[in-house]
Amino acid sequence: MLEFRDVTFSYSDADIIKKLSLNFVNNRVTAIVGPSGCGKSTIFKLISGLIKPSSGGIKTDFYRDAISYVFQDYRLLPWFNVYENIAVGLARSGGSRSDKDGLINSALCLVNMSSCSAMYPFQLSGGMQQRVGLARALVSKPELLLMDEPFSAVDGQTRQLLVEEFKQLKDELSMTTLIATHQFQDVIDLADQVVLLSSSPSTCLKVINVQSYIEHSGERALCDEMWKTLKSHVDSTFKHVTT
Ligand SMILES: Nc1ncnc2c1ncn2[C@@H]1O[C@H](COP(=O)(O)OP(=O)(O)OP(=O)(O)O)[C@@H](O)[C@H]1O
Ligand SMILES: [Mg+2]
Repeated sequence: MLEFRDVTFSYSDADIIKKLSLNFVNNRVTAIVGPSGCGKSTIFKLISGLIKPSSGGIKTDFYRDAISYVFQDYRLLPWFNVYENIAVGLARSGGSRSDKDGLINSALCLVNMSSCSAMYPFQLSGGMQQRVGLARALVSKPELLLMDEPFSAVDGQTRQLLVEEFKQLKDELSMTTLIATHQFQDVIDLADQVVLLSSSPSTCLKVINVQSYIEHSGERALCDEMWKTLKSHVDSTFKHVTT
């Protein structure tokens, strides 16, 4: 269970999120879409306990150790190689060394990085680093997975492979997943529901049940609906930044 109840969060005096109430469905994928700077990463930081709400509450029964976070900026440790960076995701779990070795090797395989396990982050492209970040989050088989723009740096074909692998994995594990993204295609490919956020101070504009919307009206209509809902907010953010 994961629920936001009237959550407000401010940095100094500026409200970033305002009275946000959301219900994330267990074992389902929720996509969070909204203009740049609206507070998507802030929502993830609140859920993982890195920051606390200024008011309102977050109700959850996920233990901290059961939550994995794929950071928008990868955050690999530069002094560890690929294998060791993925092992960080198992640092707090039990099990024998050979069990852990097996899990790390399958995570490496999942993101197609097996041949790079001895390389260091400075030797990797952005997309490769992002895949290591994904493997580090998945290696512990989390109950709650927070993915912050997880495919933003990977090429289109690799993204397609990762999406297919991820879909299989989420069916195997019972995992509640939140994915912050700007890509409508991520919503179509992965999400059960999508939360559309306004520009900051962020409120919920609309929640759409993705699969039933697609069944009734098609993918094109879903994209049109999302764009119609978000356009004025993206416009205002853009004007705010450029003026
Ligand atoms: N440590 C901080 N101190 C002050 N303001 C911050 C801090 N971190 C983020 N912000 C501000 O909070 C707002 C929301 O940031 P956040 O990173 O959550 O946006 P986002 O929706 O994830 O954007 P993007 O799509 O570009 O990743 C932005 O205006 C940002 O400048
Ligand atoms: Mg962000």
